[in-house]
Order: sequence, then structure tokens, then C-alpha cells
Amino acid sequence: MNETLERWSSRRAFILAVTGAAVGLGNIWRFPYITGENGGAAFLLLYVAFVVLLGLPVMMAEILIGRAGRRSPMQSLGHLATQAGRSGHWRWLGLFGAFTVFCILSFYSVVSGWSIEFLVSAINGDFVGKGAAEIGAGFDAFLADPWRMTFNHTLFLAMTMTVVAAGVAKGLERLNNLLMPLLYLLLLVLAGHAATTSGFGQALAWLFTPDLSAVSPTVLIAAMGHAFFTLAVGACALMAYGAYMPDHQSLPRAAAGVAVLDVTVALLAGIAIFSVVFAQGMDPAEGPGLMFVTLPVAFADLPLGAFWLSLFFLLLLMATWTSSINLAEPMVATLQGWGLGRGQAAAAVGVAVWMVGMLSVLSFSTLADVRVLFGMNVFEWVTTIPPEIFLPIGGLFIAVFAAWVLPEPVALRALDAGPHGFRAWRGLVRWVSIPLTLVVLASGLI
Ligand code: PFF
Repeated sequence: MNETLERWSSRRAFILAVTGAAVGLGNIWRFPYITGENGGAAFLLLYVAFVVLLGLPVMMAEILIGRAGRRSPMQSLGHLATQAGRSGHWRWLGLFGAFTVFCILSFYSVVSGWSIEFLVSAINGDFVGKGAAEIGAGFDAFLADPWRMTFNHTLFLAMTMTVVAAGVAKGLERLNNLLMPLLYLLLLVLAGHAATTSGFGQALAWLFTPDLSAVSPTVLIAAMGHAFFTLAVGACALMAYGAYMPDHQSLPRAAAGVAVLDVTVALLAGIAIFSVVFAQGMDPAEGPGLMFVTLPVAFADLPLGAFWLSLFFLLLLMATWTSSINLAEPMVATLQGWGLGRGQAAAAVGVAVWMVGMLSVLSFSTLADVRVLFGMNVFEWVTTIPPEIFLPIGGLFIAVFAAWVLPEPVALRALDAGPHGFRAWRGLVRWVSIPLTLVVLASGLI
């Protein structure tokens, strides 16, 4: 298979695209609920440390491979490995990545569907004047209604696959250019609004005063998994975007910019959410429903509550949309590499993800108690194991490939950061990221 000819139209477009991939449910839905479940500030501290020591260097490794290979992830890995005189079996890492994003997209689409439902409800003013019990019961009733859930899941996946089918320059790039700056603006407004609530001080204290005695292997694994998840690293999804990266752009600078933007979004979302949670005396450890239940409750009493809430769900939907197109890209690119047209590939991926996503839809009703996967139902499994185990494993192999297998001149050129920058990056990956990932994974398994 030959090199792809498509490129992002500019450096800015590439950074926006990677930020679009990184910022999503992970920052706005998953980060607050996982932080809530894992006790707050200590988790936050670990997560930021893992972003710096693992997420960021491995992100560079992943994009670098895509940029050096300029093919679909599977083909880039296979091609680069054989060129370096190594085994072509490295390409199976691309397939593992595709399997990981497949699992992730299957729940991603379902939860993003919730935000469509909630956006419509918020605009209709359905939550106005309602109390916690009533809103909680409404959410449970929604989850228990497979038809409404299916409708939203289908709609969201159709939105995603339509953009993906249109291709990089026309589809992904235009959407990213439009949505990302808007998203920042909205988040700043929401965080500013949070600062006026009575829970603001408590939220800051809870998020930023770590109690290190709360750290356990579970917390470590969760924090590491989340660092990979939030940066969209470990599933070869950014490798697919790296293949379209323009020549002459420093990769470390681009990646660091994205990481800063990504963590900022999570912090702003955390402040926005926990301020209202504490102002209303709610439970931060509520779980996956945290954002969906507490925010409507919190905003219901506030002046202009329906407006702020609609804005919030709009923002969430925009963020998840740009991430889900990134989740779909490696699968579509792989099928294209196997000879399918882009439209056909997008349709095939859409149908397959839709079917598996239905298992998550039904995990709240018919299949709620089908716990064949280590005591978890399908939704619990796909929201835990692929992010916390598959992504770090994928990231580990990506790091080994970039830092040990790729010949130095190839990696040096693709990183585009000069010899000193290259050596610093490779040293970090070889002697910090790889061992640290191994140690945390092992601690979790034991
Ligand atoms: N980074 C995305 C988020 O935070 O919602 C999720 C994600 C996208 C994970 C792409 C993995 C991936 F390959």
C-alpha cells in the first residue's frame, strides 16, 4: 500500500484535530466521575503526573510512527518494521488498536447519545424547578428505556460516520476548526459561572488538596488509564492522524500544546461540576451518572439554569463529536487500506459499532444483570477494561516500537525537534515511560 496523500491543511489544523480527539467525554464526563470515585485531589495529582511522564511522551511516539509511515496504522507499523529489518508482525499492534477503539466507540456513542437527550430536555426546560429525586428518577427512567437510548445512540453514530465518510480535509478538519474554539469559550463562561456559586471554595479544596494515603493500586491504574484515555493515546488513533501531519512541524511542541489544552479543559470542567455539586450538598462519588444527574439538579435552582445547562450539553456534544471521529478513523483507515472505499469503510464501521453499542444500551435494562465479563455487565466492562488496560498495553508497545525498534534517523526526522530534543524524548520514553507503565500495570494485576 502506498503513502497517503491527504494532509491537514496547516499546523494549526493538525493541533486542532489532535485537541479535538483528546478533549471529549474523558474530560467532561469521565474525569469528574472517576476523580469523584477515587477520592479527589490525590487522583488528580497522579493523573497529571502520568500525563506528563507517560501520556505526553507516548503521544509523541504514536504520532511520530504515523508521520513516518504515512499509511493506516497497521500498514505504517508493518512497513516501518520491515524497512528496519524487523518482523512485519508489528502490524498486529495496529489491529489491537483498532479493536480497542472499537470497544471504546461502542460506549462512547451511547453516552454521547445521553447528551443529545439531555440537550433537548435542557432546551425544553424539562428540569426547571425539579428536585434531586425527580431528576434522578427521570435519568433512571431514560436509562431503562432501550428505545430512547437506541434512538440517540443511532443518531450520534450517524453524525460521526457522516463526517468521517467525508474525509480528512473536508470532514474532520472543517468540523474541528469550527467547534474547538467555541468549546473553549463556552467552558470559560461555565467556569466563571461556577466561581459565583457557594460550592466554589469547597470544590477547589477538594480538587487541589491531595491526601496521599488514599493512593492504592486501583487508584494508580485508574489514573494511568485515564491519562492515556484523555489524551487519546494507546489505540493508534493519533497514529492515524499523524499520517496526515504536515512536514516541518515540531511534534513535541504540538503535543505539549494539546496536553496543556486537554488538562485545562478537564480542570475547568471539574471546577464547573464540583462547585455545583458541593453547593447543592451532593455526592461526588455518584459514578457515571454524576454529570447527568447532578448538573441538571444543580442548575435547576440557579438563575437562567436552563440556559446554562443547555450550553453545557451543547459543549459536551461538540467535544464528543470531534473525539468520536478520531475513534473511528483508525478502523476506517484500516479498511481503506484493505481496498474499501472511504464511504463503504465508514458504513461498515458504523454498522459494526452500532451493533456492539446496543449491548451497552441494553446494559441498563434487559442485560443489566448479565455479568459474564469478570462480574461486570457489558457497559461496565467497556468503560473500564479498554481504557484502563488495553490503552496502556497498546501505549507500551507503541513506545517500544518508536524508541527501540525504529531506526534513529527515521524517528529523528519524524519527531522534528532537533538532535537534543530527540535524545531527551527518547531517553524519557526508554527509561521513564516504558518502565513506569510496566510497574503500574503489574501492580494492578497483582
Ligand atoms: N480522548 C477522548 C476523550 O477524552 O474523550 C477519548 C479517546 C479518543 C480515547 C480516542 C482513545 C482514542 F483513541
